[in-house]
Amino acid sequence: MATMDMTAFADIQKNPAKEDFPLLVGNPGLAFLDSAATAQRPAVVLDAQRRFYETMNANPLRGLYRLSVEATQAIEDARAHVAAHIGGGAGSQVVFTRNASESLNICAKDFGASVLRPGDEVVISIMEHHSNLIPWQQVCRATGAKLVYLRPEPDGTVTDESIERAIGPKTRIVSMTQVSNVLGVEVPIAKVAAHAHAVGATMIVDACQSVPHMHVDAKAMGADLMAFSAHKMGGPMGIGVLWGKPEILDAMPPFLTGGEMIDSVTETDAVWAPVPQKFEAGTQDAAGIYAFDAALAYLEGIGVDAIEARERALAARLCERLEAIPYVTVYGPAEPERHVGSVAFNVDGIHPHDVASLLDMQDVAIRAGHHCAQPLLTWMGGINATCRASVAFYNDASDIDKLVEGLEFVWRTFHHER
Ligand code: ALA
Repeated sequence: MATMDMTAFADIQKNPAKEDFPLLVGNPGLAFLDSAATAQRPAVVLDAQRRFYETMNANPLRGLYRLSVEATQAIEDARAHVAAHIGGGAGSQVVFTRNASESLNICAKDFGASVLRPGDEVVISIMEHHSNLIPWQQVCRATGAKLVYLRPEPDGTVTDESIERAIGPKTRIVSMTQVSNVLGVEVPIAKVAAHAHAVGATMIVDACQSVPHMHVDAKAMGADLMAFSAHKMGGPMGIGVLWGKPEILDAMPPFLTGGEMIDSVTETDAVWAPVPQKFEAGTQDAAGIYAFDAALAYLEGIGVDAIEARERALAARLCERLEAIPYVTVYGPAEPERHVGSVAFNVDGIHPHDVASLLDMQDVAIRAGHHCAQPLLTWMGGINATCRASVAFYNDASDIDKLVEGLEFVWRTFHHER
């Protein structure tokens, strides 16, 4: 990566970061507007993955020879780096999982199942991704706890009143997304956490759609456990993070067992290794974790503040342009600057799958469907599906122009106008 021209980086008409992304360089006509589903990877991440296998490939934690020690060190360095990136203390507070869904399943089926009693309440918002919803449905069913939904304003705004209505004396756990993967609206997690802690509840944060776009300080905002994934931050697919306060992780039983997650094993019993190894049964994707470390270094090399500023400008521009189209309905906050990364919308009378397919013919990639948030769409008025465009710092204003031109093509196609 050459030194970034930061004046150009701040200008959404320019795009100095694009050249760092081989897929974007190889597809110069592509407007990739689906980074909320997965981000593109810079060459430094792809190189790191290859470098691991070429120079330090051995099974971490198992070998007493140089390569295995280096592989172990690579994982521990990445752990410390992840913790520092989210202001979260020691590397030992970072557990590597397969993805954020697995991290959230551990929160529900491991932590939740061990603390919930009949009559306790688990509070989530109606905006949750299924990965922060179904595990809670299941654990509530198994424990006799009740699942309570925080219902925001129709545009997704979480008000003080909505927090006070949802969280009460029976609340034992609050698990909430920091940014909706559909509406792009930010939840005031620090406020939610303060209410949760005031009633003695544990605060779990799904940071999948926030960590890639903004400074997230897990401790400052009051998270007790937090989940996110590498692949939305330019790291490899297949790496998730579960971050937690040491006393909570220490008290939790292991989720999967086997491999190096033990201190000792007898014919009848086993003693667990300390956190984080206790949660890392089996061989980890060490190369992926090493490459995730490289992704964080890349993002920090540009600067998280600079990335946040550019992405906020891009998302606001995206929202403004879509709101100006008479046959497009934009969901979420009316204020363009309140969309973090994602903007959901529909085109009057045209199914989102048709919109996405016709946009693909114009080399514009968006997501269409329920975005793994079906209860949210039902709550929004029985909508079955929406289109969703999402930006990252390697987008520029021309990608948004291309989307708008693509939507004009979609409209003309369905209305037999040429
Ligand atoms: N959770 C990802 C999304 O919202 C896949 O698209």
